[in-house]
Amino acid sequence: MSDPVRLEHCHGIAVITVDHPPVNALSQPVRAGLLEAVQTAARDQAVSGIVLACAGRTFIAGADITEFGRPHAEPSLARVLDALEHAGKPVVAALHGTALGGGLELAMCCSHRVAAPGTRVGLPEVKLGLLPGAGGTQRLPRLLGLDAALEAILTGRMLKVEDEAAGVVDAVLEGELTEAAVAWLQGQLAEGLTPRRVRELGVPGAEALPSGHFDAVRAQVVREAPGQVAPLQIVACLEAAATLPFEQGMNVERERFAECMRSPQSRALQHLFFAEREAAKVPDLPRETPTRVIRRVAVIGAGTMGGGIAMCFANAGREVTLIDTSESAVRRGLDVIEGNYRRSVSRGRLDEATAMARLARITPADQLAAVSEADLVIEAVYEDLVLKQRIFAELGERARPDAILATNTSTLDVDAIAAASGAPERVIGLHFFSPANVMRLLEIVRGRETADEVLATCLRLAREIGKVGVVSGVCYGFIGNRMLEGYGREAGLMLLEGAAAERIDGVITDFGLPMGPLAMGDLAGIDVGARVRAERRGAGMLPADPRYGAVHDRLADLGRLGQKTGRGVYRYAEGSRRAQPDPEVTALIASLAEDLGVGQREIDDKEILERCLFPLVNEGLRILEEGIALRASDIDVVWVYGYGFPAWRGGPLHWIEEAVGLPYLLERLRLYATLLGNEYGYWTPAPLLERLVAEGGRLADYRPGSR
Ligand code: 3HC
Repeated sequence: MSDPVRLEHCHGIAVITVDHPPVNALSQPVRAGLLEAVQTAARDQAVSGIVLACAGRTFIAGADITEFGRPHAEPSLARVLDALEHAGKPVVAALHGTALGGGLELAMCCSHRVAAPGTRVGLPEVKLGLLPGAGGTQRLPRLLGLDAALEAILTGRMLKVEDEAAGVVDAVLEGELTEAAVAWLQGQLAEGLTPRRVRELGVPGAEALPSGHFDAVRAQVVREAPGQVAPLQIVACLEAAATLPFEQGMNVERERFAECMRSPQSRALQHLFFAEREAAKVPDLPRETPTRVIRRVAVIGAGTMGGGIAMCFANAGREVTLIDTSESAVRRGLDVIEGNYRRSVSRGRLDEATAMARLARITPADQLAAVSEADLVIEAVYEDLVLKQRIFAELGERARPDAILATNTSTLDVDAIAAASGAPERVIGLHFFSPANVMRLLEIVRGRETADEVLATCLRLAREIGKVGVVSGVCYGFIGNRMLEGYGREAGLMLLEGAAAERIDGVITDFGLPMGPLAMGDLAGIDVGARVRAERRGAGMLPADPRYGAVHDRLADLGRLGQKTGRGVYRYAEGSRRAQPDPEVTALIASLAEDLGVGQREIDDKEILERCLFPLVNEGLRILEEGIALRASDIDVVWVYGYGFPAWRGGPLHWIEEAVGLPYLLERLRLYATLLGNEYGYWTPAPLLERLVAEGGRLADYRPGSR
């Protein structure tokens, strides 16, 4: 028998234990070991029942994702499940931790399931662009009912065995799980327990479905997950579960699973699964670097960003001091936070007691001296270097000597801010994305002198507060906002050249981003961008191109500041966020174009997409080559979790490498340089791109500093 699976005997019960850290995934040696153990126990006349449990932190968390795309290795999971289902004696799966994907599917092939308190189960395959391919789409509806199973499989959510997933388990057992499961099985055998198969059950909720039920479900799925393959395939499988005999349903599942597995979307989502976990690993940060415990956090600035950050930490059980310059300012901030919590309660996302407990963790203060108790101080004030330096100088004196000092700047020089504190080794950038309590990305900006311990603590903390942390070096805009620049620039230039705003945004939303660049500018505030441009222009950081930002600067001059004034690039009806094209803006742009000598023309969708996204990707390649990002996949994580780049495209660099091709990107950058002119270097290919294309290298394998 192979190592990761043990077979032991306990008073007539065979106990099979899977021990394959870290998450007991169903790798080939586990499948082989399981098959042998189940067959041996099934044949053994002295064994009256089998308990299947796992060692370590969790029950089986699914198929081994690292095996996907590799040649198939026997035995298949289907063979193992078949052996379990036909063992000829009761088989009890003893669940703890998380029983996910193939792990739950395996448990559903056992005749019974018991679980430790707090166990969660789920079929998260949709998050990998897949569907449950080992009978999950056919068995879960038989245990949970059609609607609940459909919802669980479409969202990939984990469900607790005590409530939503109560139908999956026969008993929740206290005490040492394997012992409790053995005792439970012995008790049940004494009462005449016989094996039973989930496949033989009916599907509750499938009896009297109205005609067109699944078409309505499909329409909803298309609305909620536009462009995605797996969710529609899942609906097809659940429809089969509801309308066909079990075996035929399994055939549908098998075919649909194979289609999903072949899809580029699944490869993209698998890439992201590992990218997210890889991002937490920093090559020159020793694994054993000590970390500090962060219990108390002080947030300076009670505006939208500061308030969101305070909520993040309060939600994660930390005590928060929210500081602003006056009692009224901090009160306003706290009112907004309270409103957010109340909204979550009224929408049923949070219960009242939890919301109020979280709110109670936030203490207001109107003096910077209130930072004195904090383990971590996060500054989230207005984007002004001098102001931030003044605050950090004061923090150097007032914060505890071992406190971590973080700035939430989105563009400014973290090293310059750090220097002002007099203790730059304690300073780091923690760049949250708005709304900070919702967006999952946290850019962790490592300054020149940031101590390893500070970085390691922030990486761990990111995880603890439910964020995906990505390390960035110091540069203007870090990873995300620096890449945003070319994207916004070209959107503005195309407006000037005659493309309609709604067409530009439409191309981007059709591609899968939640919002186009122009609607996004209206939301963020046109004055915000104009102010940044003015500062950068003053500092000589912008090209001497009169067209650069010209449309938006003119709109800002006219007081068309975006959604907040009801007018920006678009018009907004009173109290509405729905962007409507504005003929006034079209006329204004036409006259501006004439003043600047820019000819207007029809711009097709392909050009719109490429002019928005190719400069963004090209900048990403520079960021990678400069070592600002540690790896291409980190850049993908930033864009998916911080900017809503469609996860099923894998992030901008995965997309360019897998779906577009680096040679094509290079060719098009050169073409646009010729067609549009390259006086300001907008279309100059990143040196890394030229090199990778010349050498046939892969972006995914590239590491900064490597050749
Ligand atoms: N296959 C291979 N490796 C896996 C894995 C899997 N299914 N699940 C987790 N891992 C690895 C991670 O990559 C990570 O490796 P690293 O330490 O080298 O970075 C390690 O296990 C620990 O994972 P996490 O950091 O995610 O640990 P957490 O404790 O935070 O979370 C978990 C544990 C909830 C189990 C989480 O890992 C998870 O959600 N895993 C994926 C579960 C999943 O998607 N299962 C379905 C697989 S597809 C399938 O089963 C197809 C079937 O229908 C036929």
